[in-house]
Amino acid sequence: MEDLDAIVQEALSAFAGIDDPDKLEQAKARYLGKSGALTGLLKGLAKLPAGERPAFGARVNDAKERLEIALREQRERIQGAKLEARLEEEALDVTLPGRGLGIGGVHPVTRTMERIETLFRSMGFAVADGPEIETDYYNFTALNQPENHPARSMHDTFYLADGKHLLRTHTSPIQIRYLEQHRPPIKIVAPGRVYRHDYDATHSPMFHQIEGLWVDERITFADLKGVLIAFLRLFFERDDVKVRFRPSFFPFTEPSAEIDMSFGEGWLEMGGAGMVHPNVLKNVAIDSERYQGFAFGLGPDRLTMLRYGVNDLRLFFENDLRFLKQFN
Ligand code: FA5
Repeated sequence: MEDLDAIVQEALSAFAGIDDPDKLEQAKARYLGKSGALTGLLKGLAKLPAGERPAFGARVNDAKERLEIALREQRERIQGAKLEARLEEEALDVTLPGRGLGIGGVHPVTRTMERIETLFRSMGFAVADGPEIETDYYNFTALNQPENHPARSMHDTFYLADGKHLLRTHTSPIQIRYLEQHRPPIKIVAPGRVYRHDYDATHSPMFHQIEGLWVDERITFADLKGVLIAFLRLFFERDDVKVRFRPSFFPFTEPSAEIDMSFGEGWLEMGGAGMVHPNVLKNVAIDSERYQGFAFGLGPDRLTMLRYGVNDLRLFFENDLRFLKQFN
């Protein structure tokens, strides 16, 4: 009898101290299994006097039931604790602030291009566009560039494998494309990417230009100067910007000039300009006796360098975020 109570007590406290499901099943086998302690007691039933057997049998069965119940409760406790632990581990704090998406910024050269467009629009210019892959005709021939001109050489220009197309070396072909489609008065700027065999601190193989073209009945070199000086002062928000028109040569303008600018120390070349050559107007069937105009091609990358005080143009195109982030 004491044996039975002792076994039940031992089993109950053993079960209660187990938190691993496998170990619990092993403990169950120790008491309730085929060769378990309780089963052993039942086997001894035969040795008891017949009169005591039913009462003892009933007690052992009671004890079995108590242990079964204790086991079931312990299993549930273990499961519950496991679930609790998992919930804790996978807890999601919905009150934490979000990480947010990294929003990109506008590239400094794009910012300059947009600013240039806005300023020229405010002076009455429309904005035009053209392809980056051009034909020899639009890039050179229609612009009065003779066959043997050195700028046409493989050395300066990226030709496509078909030998007929090239990456435009300037935005001036947009002049021709626009002049073919429109009649004066024409007043446009045309921004875009251009490509040349160049590489140093102020020359990149891919860079940008913005072309300007104003053709009407009484456009003079004075208009060219007025527009460019006004533009540069607006762009830099400074009235002390000095602009110099240095005599130069372009086949598609006559006379031609390089536009240099300065804030006091030294000059930086910003672009080329001039009065549209009569041969260019002839190539697009515009009467050059009646109409004249000016054209210019500015380098927005260099304007960006000067505006932000950057001394190497190539930094703009290396995509180093540590550099680019400073402009946003
Ligand atoms: C031209 O490309 C002419 N099409 C400009 C023009 C247009 C003249 C209309 C007359 C009428 P040029 O090769 O000088 O000209 O280039 C113009 C400007 O582009 C230069 O002054 C410079 O600011 C910029 N530039 C030229 N090459 C590079 C380069 N590799 N990297 C960055 N900027 C450049």
